[in-house]
Amino acid sequence: MPIVSVTAPERESRYDIHIGHGLLSRCAPLFHACRGRRAVIVTDTAVAPLYAHTLSGQLEAAGAQVSTAVLPAGETTKSPEHLSRLYDMFLDAGLTRSDSVFALGGGVIGDLAGYAACTYLRGVHFVQVPTTLLAQVDSSVGGKVAVNHVRGKNLLGAFYQPELVLIDCDTLATLDDRQFGAGLGEVIKYGCIADRALFEQLESLGSRASLLPALDGIIARCCEIKARYVREDPHDHGIRMQLNFGHTLAHALENALGYGTLLHGEAVCIGMGAAAGWGEALGVTPLGTRERIKRLLDAYGLPTQVPQGLSPEALASTMALDKKASGHAVNVVLLTEIGACTSLPIESGRLARML
Ligand code: NAD
Ligand code: GLY
Repeated sequence: MPIVSVTAPERESRYDIHIGHGLLSRCAPLFHACRGRRAVIVTDTAVAPLYAHTLSGQLEAAGAQVSTAVLPAGETTKSPEHLSRLYDMFLDAGLTRSDSVFALGGGVIGDLAGYAACTYLRGVHFVQVPTTLLAQVDSSVGGKVAVNHVRGKNLLGAFYQPELVLIDCDTLATLDDRQFGAGLGEVIKYGCIADRALFEQLESLGSRASLLPALDGIIARCCEIKARYVREDPHDHGIRMQLNFGHTLAHALENALGYGTLLHGEAVCIGMGAAAGWGEALGVTPLGTRERIKRLLDAYGLPTQVPQGLSPEALASTMALDKKASGHAVNVVLLTEIGACTSLPIESGRLARML
């Protein structure tokens, strides 16, 4: 079973990411990490009937008294209102500072439960059990936890590292194809920015069906890359922004189309092609890279085209609102080759004209 370690300076600790098949039904021995008697599993209505019983059984076998908080599935659950409901559930369960919160689900549950674990009683033990591909390769690692505010996504948040991440690849068997594809977009992103060999492996596997037998190793590789960024830049002040490759246009597309029209990972796929094109036009990215990325995205059934009807002006003004912008210039991540990248400030109108 691959184990990836993450160094997390803010809690002066190191935590392990365990990755394997069937892990959920034999994870009791790993729970020495969660001290305390009580555990609350936070999950959603889609995941609870599939996996909550198995996790709860393992926690009980490890000696915990378990309660399960089931919240509605979907992004709207990442709200201050549901956070408040969660605090009530923790209080009802008698959760004390020495007890633990387990996030069982996708990035929505991980972000929300993590923020609740960070703030309840000034912090209780926290374990991530991600069940979407996106959460397994990205959101469960690195300690970004948050809820949304009516004025924007992730506006209320913190850095709070988990003490353990448990990735059972078998949970992906029940994930729908579109959600799986969105996670694959992030996997391809890691290949683009940091791992040429991973990109080439994805090219030679060439389809979702051929990828499945290699998935645990690929997830481990993505977690290693993410762990490296987190170790070097835990609070996202510098190099960690490279993880935003493809995100400049992605955020603008999500904003212009309305959240939920494209899944985030799908928007990132379109954004990666665009960013490769920008890099080529600016002479930073070798010619042909955009085409190569598009071929790979096509092979995995992922979107590559900016949806029709969006004006470059509208996208430019939305890109100018990017969190990584200063003035009208947006810091854009560009590939210097497949597997390496840099970032450059570029005026948002110029980006839109190069689409
Ligand atoms: P999600 O949590 O909404 O999950 C997608 C859907 O899949 C949900 O309906 C869920 O119920 C269902 N689901 C989850 N696991 C399943 C399984 N194994 N089988 C069947 N259905 C399953 O979405 P997501 O894409 O995992 O996460 C998106 C969220 O993650 C966003 O809120 C985003 O802001 C956040 N995010 C956070 C970070 C971070 O670093 N913290 C990074 C990227 C994204
Ligand atoms: N998802 C980007 C990050 O964790 O920094």
